[in-house]
Amino acid sequence: MIIAIDGPSGTGKSTTARLLARDLGFVYLDTGAMYRAITFAALAAKIPPSDTAGLLKLLETTSVDFDSDNKILINGVSREQEIRGAEVSANTSLYSAVPEVRKVLTNLQREIAKTHSAVLDGRDIGTVVFPNADFKFFLVTDIKVRAARRFEELKEKGIPMTLEEVEKNLLERDALDSSRKEAPLRKAEDAIEIDTTQLSITQQVQKIRDYVGVVA
Ligand code: DC
Repeated sequence: MIIAIDGPSGTGKSTTARLLARDLGFVYLDTGAMYRAITFAALAAKIPPSDTAGLLKLLETTSVDFDSDNKILINGVSREQEIRGAEVSANTSLYSAVPEVRKVLTNLQREIAKTHSAVLDGRDIGTVVFPNADFKFFLVTDIKVRAARRFEELKEKGIPMTLEEVEKNLLERDALDSSRKEAPLRKAEDAIEIDTTQLSITQQVQKIRDYVGVVA
């Protein structure tokens, strides 16, 4: 069984998907982490998003996996901390818009989920990666609430940013992710939309479990 959870950043997708997978005993695949991983590797190798040949070579020679704790491994090295940092966060929208990058990572995501029931979270899971997913959810949240949540996360990590900067950043990323030509952030026609503005993570997970339980 494949459960797709898409939506913009700060809607609680990853936490919801991780807990849901744990409850159901499914594999959890954080596809955003994979785009972050390639961005980290490209920045380290100083390959700009415009250098398609350089990126193709990088994709061929870079392995992206997860350890048993779902933390990212790049060429076998744990890089969880690095892929969540400000530089990678600010650049991932640019690298994830490159069709060659999307093609390779989409294939890898399909491959990983081929032999397991899985919950995948991302931007294009229900539209492109698994258009025939058993269940598709699209999470939306009021921008003020998303910004406040992200602001708290950054504060905990000691990253200095004002609430206004965080909101501006989220809106810019949404605009880039939604307007790219290849697999833009979009709700699949048959996805169930869930507004998480007023929901706790536990309520979000329960809501999805209710849908999955009713039909499964
Ligand atoms: O979910 P996240 O914030 O970790 O995603 C990081 C970036 O990767 C974000 O700019 C959108 C992009 N992304 C994507 O284009 N397609 C996906 N399936 C997942 C993430």
